[in-house]
Amino acid sequence: MQIKIVIGTVAFMIAMMVFGYSALREPARLERFTNAELGRSIEAGSEIFANNCATCHGVDATAQECYDAQGNQIACQGLPLNYNGLLCGDVSQRMKDMGWSGTKHDYILTTISAGRGPIMPTWANQFGGPLRPDQVQNVTNFVLNYESETLCAAPLVTYEWPELAQEFLAGPDVTLPADPARGQELFTVTYGCSACHGTVDGSAPAAIGPSLVNIETDGATRVDGQDAQQYVYHSILYPSDFIAPDCPTGPCSGPPSVMPANFGARMGDNPQDMADILAYLLGE
Ligand code: HEC
Ligand code: HEC
Repeated sequence: MQIKIVIGTVAFMIAMMVFGYSALREPARLERFTNAELGRSIEAGSEIFANNCATCHGVDATAQECYDAQGNQIACQGLPLNYNGLLCGDVSQRMKDMGWSGTKHDYILTTISAGRGPIMPTWANQFGGPLRPDQVQNVTNFVLNYESETLCAAPLVTYEWPELAQEFLAGPDVTLPADPARGQELFTVTYGCSACHGTVDGSAPAAIGPSLVNIETDGATRVDGQDAQQYVYHSILYPSDFIAPDCPTGPCSGPPSVMPANFGARMGDNPQDMADILAYLLGE
């Protein structure tokens, strides 16, 4: 009898230990499972990104290098996503700028789902886009996965454009003389201005925006008190502030301008780009 009780007690204790151990292990097991599931989602998202998003947001989502379906390098029209200002901090700089009060996950998911502005397409089925909810979720996880200690270690520099072109060109971020040949490359390839404006030597006609062939003289006639340089500088940063009179198919529409408003943000990473484009357009 005594023996039976002892055996029973010991068996009970062993059973409790095994049970307790596996109960303790359960959260870890769940976490491993969730991580594996997240890993698969990110992997699927990376494929969706390569096929649908990289043409505008670029290789590695840095909006520096974009290719068309034939493999030709083209202008990146999108913003960088692998980017401190979008991903770092619980409330990232971008979320503050856009007045977003929800989570970062929802900011990205919502932008992808519904699109934004004239260029970023709508992706989710529910809004008439091509992606199912799980695919939108996967590509959201893929974008979020760029948040890393390295990305977020460097402080975010948002460039403050001086109001006056003169002040900007005399500032510490510009090397003079500016390089018009580099400006031409930026105008035709990196920023894709020529897709809308044609080229300044007239070799490619303007399709959507005004021809800039005579902008050196026309620019000085647009806004009282602005010479051509100030006008062009301001037009690139704030396209909607003044709408040019003549577009290829009639009067230019707006405000808002058809011209993207994100060049200031994109050139902020390398302000010399602005100086070189001005040199190309104005021949200085
Ligand atoms: C045709 C070009 C184009 C394609 C293709 C494109 N985007 Fe965009 N995307 C843009 C532009 C332009 C913006 C900036 C919109 C604005 O703020 O006016 C943007 C903005 C975004 C933003 C918000 C960025 C921020 O800083 O607020 C996210 C996230 C995004 N895109 C993800 C995607 C994903 C994911 C895909 C593919 C499923 C995709 N985009 C495909 C052009 C594109
Ligand atoms: C998607 C087409 C598009 C792209 C890309 C584009 N623009 Fe424009 N741009 C326009 C349109 C449309 C206008 C006329 C409406 C307005 O004044 O905002 C315009 C106006 C201008 C003007 C004023 C022209 C005038 O006659 O008064 C300048 C200067 C200019 N753009 C420079 C640029 C530069 C530089 C780039 C590249 C960094 C660029 N644009 C990219 C469409 C575009």
